[in-house]
Amino acid sequence: MAASAPEPLQIIIATSNPGKVRDFSVLLGTDFPEAQFVGTEVIGGMPEVDETGTTFEANARLKAEAVWQLTQAKGGYAVMADDSGLAVDYLGGAPGVYSARYAGVGASDGENRDKLLDALQEVPVDQRSARFVCNLCLILPEGQLHQFEAYCEGTIANKARGENGFGYDPVFIGEGMTETFGECSPQEKAQRSHRAKAVGLLRDFLSQQVG
Ligand code: IMP
Repeated sequence: MAASAPEPLQIIIATSNPGKVRDFSVLLGTDFPEAQFVGTEVIGGMPEVDETGTTFEANARLKAEAVWQLTQAKGGYAVMADDSGLAVDYLGGAPGVYSARYAGVGASDGENRDKLLDALQEVPVDQRSARFVCNLCLILPEGQLHQFEAYCEGTIANKARGENGFGYDPVFIGEGMTETFGECSPQEKAQRSHRAKAVGLLRDFLSQQVG
């Protein structure tokens, strides 16, 4: 009897943010033989997680651990969670881990962007440097934990431009670009984003581990 191919690792993407799900599905595509990515619907949805950490690394870990606990009844799943945000040098790294709630808990993306543009009003272009940060936390089915962090350098525009992406994309101009991420196609963003680079690190790790 022919030996059957090894089962790909099933990895739950631990997020309920539709913008991130879209980004991840472009990044992960179908060309990822080592792993199969599934949503949190397999465990009944994303649980509420208090992001009490002061670093992206700590918050990614909190989210991954909360989902991993829920997989224990079923077993066999790995979990991947990300924590990400925008760090602006002129603001001492703010909004940082508070990116999603910069203008207050429950603030919309537009309100967060407006607060950022207000905080940088009058600030000249050479002092508007910033980076997106993405920390990915992977927990394997047996509980082994690995974290990967990546950055995307850029500057903050004077006003929001473009309808694509989510969050701060319409005010973020990637290094060497003239358009904002809000004006880029998802594929253009995927070539350079912090999330793309962190997924690249995860891919390298998985192909060594599982391949
Ligand atoms: P998290 O869900 O706690 O990781 O919050 C991430 C927040 O950072 C999002 O709500 C956005 O405001 C911002 N953010 C993270 N990644 C991106 C991105 O790729 N584009 C635009 N904003 C982002």
